Amino acid sequence: MKSDISLPGNFNNEDSNHTANPHIDQVLDARLSRRGLLRGAAGAAGAGVLGTTALSGCATSGASGTTGAALTSLGFKPVAKSLADKVVVPEGYSAQIIYALGDPLAAGVPAYKNDGSDTAFEQRAGDHHDGMEWFGLDASGKPSNSFNSRGILAVNHEATTDEKLSSFFIHTNGGASTLPRPASEVDKELAIHGLSFVEVQSSGKQWAYKTSSPFNRRVTASTPATLHGPARGTEHVVTKYSPDGTACRGTLNNCGTGKTPWGTFVSGEENWYGYFSRDAQDDERRKKDKQVQALNRYGRKAGAASRHGWESAGPQDQYVRWNNGALAASAKEDYRNEMNTFGYVVEMDAYDTQAPMRKRTGLGRFAHESVAFAKPVAGQPIVAYMGDDARNEYIYKFVSDAKWDPKDASPANRLAAGDKYLDKGTLFAARFKDNGSGEWLELSMKNPVIANSSYFEFKSDADVAIFTRLAADAVGATKMDRPEWGGVNPRTGEVYITLTNNSTRTVANTDAVNPRMYTDMKGSKEQKGNVHGHIVRLADASPAGSAFKWDVYVFGAEAGADKSAVNLSNLTDENDMSSPDGLVFSPATGVCWIQTDDGAYTDKTNCMMLAAIPGKVGDGGARTVKHGDKTVTTYVGKTPTPTTLARFLVGPRGCEITGWCETPDGRAVFINIQHPGEGTKMADVADPAKYQSQWPANAGYGAGQRPRSATIVITKNDGGVIGS
Ligand code: FEO
Ligand code: CA
Ligand code: CA
Repeated sequence: MKSDISLPGNFNNEDSNHTANPHIDQVLDARLSRRGLLRGAAGAAGAGVLGTTALSGCATSGASGTTGAALTSLGFKPVAKSLADKVVVPEGYSAQIIYALGDPLAAGVPAYKNDGSDTAFEQRAGDHHDGMEWFGLDASGKPSNSFNSRGILAVNHEATTDEKLSSFFIHTNGGASTLPRPASEVDKELAIHGLSFVEVQSSGKQWAYKTSSPFNRRVTASTPATLHGPARGTEHVVTKYSPDGTACRGTLNNCGTGKTPWGTFVSGEENWYGYFSRDAQDDERRKKDKQVQALNRYGRKAGAASRHGWESAGPQDQYVRWNNGALAASAKEDYRNEMNTFGYVVEMDAYDTQAPMRKRTGLGRFAHESVAFAKPVAGQPIVAYMGDDARNEYIYKFVSDAKWDPKDASPANRLAAGDKYLDKGTLFAARFKDNGSGEWLELSMKNPVIANSSYFEFKSDADVAIFTRLAADAVGATKMDRPEWGGVNPRTGEVYITLTNNSTRTVANTDAVNPRMYTDMKGSKEQKGNVHGHIVRLADASPAGSAFKWDVYVFGAEAGADKSAVNLSNLTDENDMSSPDGLVFSPATGVCWIQTDDGAYTDKTNCMMLAAIPGKVGDGGARTVKHGDKTVTTYVGKTPTPTTLARFLVGPRGCEITGWCETPDGRAVFINIQHPGEGTKMADVADPAKYQSQWPANAGYGAGQRPRSATIVITKNDGGVIGS
């Protein structure tokens, strides 16, 4: 997403949780924690007991079942912070650009001119490459979990670089920044969103994507999809397009990803609400519709303008669907419910270009990031962890009704396995207690707090699936500092979730798990709140159970910051970071890769990727943070060193680093450079000298000088595993 959340008109700058619920928890939990503390550093010392039994030292991939040698220390020399307009990797490593915005995905599509005149984006790489997963192919083109030189990359195309309405780098003159938007521009913008599936291959020396692979596929904001799970066929997803509430179109703002234990791709829809307009009279028209409360809770107040003005491009259905108003006599005749068809995890079969896109409503509706699956265990439910990325939102867990059958690791019909494990199950939201323990709160009609809620009228589990944030409000989940991606540590089974930052964290609402509020200077600009973010980790007593222990693996900070209040993890020049966002554990090596989407430390460094070999919950201890006369006790993981946490890569100017996957042997790692040059002014689109970035053209990739989001592949010059 856009790095600088303080920019005006930033549609990623959501802050709609005005509930008071955690306040009540804090009172209760403070009482509990006094007793907990008497037991003696309860959270820290108790963790080993409640924490999941450590797996053997060997890393295991839940998804593919591949195993590799776990790295026990990092072997590369950390790279320095950098403001250069290039990708920096450690000595002995190489980075190669292989797949950028506009690259042709079919024979006959012209090479990308990169001057704003290109069309046919339905057959080109989309924009803002984000989360990404590897789907291996063997030499004959069959799915493979072990072949290392050929595969399909499934890539999210989250968004596009805009200033006002227009995606200005893809239009010749920058496009129209006033309404109505020309249909010709909107058609291009609809097509650069969504997903791509692209085949890549190594010659042994170089990687390249294949222009005309039969596996190449684009999904856009207009691609037909179907709804599955509790919301399917219910009243709040009825639209003019689908009067029976079973179908919908497109996927939007796809951020993090996941790979299911049955071998499909899942992708989270994040800041989808910003694409819809709602006129000022819509509350009045809807009168007693309970959705007014939900629309406000999901960031669409009456009068909300849309990010790109797509609804203004003409009377045709593909444009008016972006107006979320109750405009006709019934929901069957307008798009008042269109927004309820977004905000889900979508599932795709990467190996079958004809397979449909299914929206898995059972995993809830919020600003989805990644989906981190626990290692599946025969006879036990499938468990997945998810974050809701907006300020003061929640962390969720899904537990399937169906029990894992190891035969489903290679099913005949992958999406049917998805139906089995993702359409029936239970969602939970996390409550973090002050004593280092926590509880998963059930979000279903079986929970009387939901069924009898006076806060919002829940009539069925479809309402929980569609209005998930309100269900989590009702049970009193803990408001977090923007939960982003999650990963499950293959060594321990523990769950790591990045909390990227929170500009609205105040002293009054600091708590044990979000304990910092401070001022950081960026030049002469004051930045307040939890400016640099942190990474929380949870040890579930049992993956499907409700009790967990937690601590903070690492607090983001500048190396020079106050160690008593800000730099609580004693970060140094080798590993200081701000705004962790992407987080993935390598199935091959067990290394935890951390990627930043930062706007706070960018006076000193571009965004980066770090490698980590973390320990486990409770390996550090309790720490006290003072805010005037308020004292907050938190739990901090063991202080990292440059052999357990080190900066591996720094990107070009204006980018964020995101997306991570690897070949099964861990010797090639693919990542994405998203929105290089996003700070460029739309008025300067004709003057390349004024671009914030000219990457990847300045690295020798492609025509023109306009910056482009792109996939790169990292290899070690001696052929070793990445991170060693
Ligand atoms: Fe798309 Fe919240 O990062
Ligand atoms: Ca991101
Ligand atoms: Ca600073």
